[in-house]
Amino acid sequence: MNIPLKTLESPAGDVFAAGLEGIVAAETVLSHVDGAAGRLVLRGHQLEQLADWSFEAVLALLWRDLARENLDETQIRLRLGAARVVAFERMTSALPALDGLSQVEALRLLLSLLPDVETECHHLVAVASVPVFAAAIARRGRGLDPVRPDASLGAAADFLRMLHGAEQGPEKVRALETYLVTVADHGLNASTFATRVIASTQAGLFSSVIGGLCALKGPLHGGAPGPVLDMLDAIRSEENIAPWLTEALDRGERLMGFGHRIYRVRDPRADALKRAVSALRDTGGRIGFAEKVEAQALALLAERKPLRPLQTNVEFYTALLLEAVGFPRESFTNVFAAGRMAGWTAHVLEQDRVGRLIRPQSRYVGRMPA
Ligand code: ACO
Repeated sequence: MNIPLKTLESPAGDVFAAGLEGIVAAETVLSHVDGAAGRLVLRGHQLEQLADWSFEAVLALLWRDLARENLDETQIRLRLGAARVVAFERMTSALPALDGLSQVEALRLLLSLLPDVETECHHLVAVASVPVFAAAIARRGRGLDPVRPDASLGAAADFLRMLHGAEQGPEKVRALETYLVTVADHGLNASTFATRVIASTQAGLFSSVIGGLCALKGPLHGGAPGPVLDMLDAIRSEENIAPWLTEALDRGERLMGFGHRIYRVRDPRADALKRAVSALRDTGGRIGFAEKVEAQALALLAERKPLRPLQTNVEFYTALLLEAVGFPRESFTNVFAAGRMAGWTAHVLEQDRVGRLIRPQSRYVGRMPA
């Protein structure tokens, strides 16, 4: 049955939001999304402060006092390196099974090889595995063999090395690191909520984060940055920006990379990523063109939806950054998963401590028996 309304009213007059907006479904110490102020806080740190941290330092922050053992940045770096090597060994025999799958479906398949046995470091294994799998999947899409991890490198540097087959310069590594940190956690977004619901059934960490990945895949969540580049390619020239955007909106389409459920002002992650991608030297003119598209899209959205502030979201500059460091657009959602795995695993650890099954109710609006 198609229910077009965003809010539904019962005969008794009570209203609920079909998208659960405004409903608090968990308490967390991990992150706070302040949509009115355009502010994101991760465990007491403003996003802007974290943008130049290493991914490992942010993992240490998120996992602190939730994992059984508190590890510092250096210990996490070492353990992730070792776990990447194990993930690589585990993956190689499964690669032929990936034929015909999209890159995110392939990642889902490889993650499902991880057994849900209770170990002290399953959160580390999950975070270490995604870059190994995602890089191998991206290379496979180009007909290339996977590249063995280098356990001595940081996660971001090795991710790029495994993608390209050679170490990349510090500029690109820094840009990817900023990206991974920026998307590490973001309140109770759809994929994190899905992850917590599964964790609350005690299904296990890997099952929980695979659920998160499935939710991330959709274009209304983490599947948007590939389509952002498709949009920029389709617009092609400055003269075509206004006509293209106008026609897309006339057809009732959504402009990818704009709008957010919580933010009513600009998504602070968009600014962090814009700064990171602007620091890269060789972006082939993309940034200047994208800024013009962004400006016109914002003007048109303000004109068309005056009552709904629609601003640039994280996905717009994600697309430019991931393209600039060499990821193919088909793999963007998998790179997002590599960063968000930090948050998903921390939420599983936190949910385990809550120990309460998440089980809301539905309202029956069908027919009753005579
Ligand atoms: N382009 C055009 N119109 C839009 C857009 C957009 N990007 N976003 C929202 N709108 C319009 C809707 O059509 C709706 O109009 P209506 O009231 O006339 O029907 C109005 O704004 C409100 O939209 P909602 O659906 O209530 O907004 P919601 O909070 O559910 O949407 C979402 C948030 C899904 C991100 C939406 O803005 C969207 O689809 N954006 C494009 C896809 C995208 O960028 N996704 C990545 C999101 S960031 C992330 O999840 C990591």
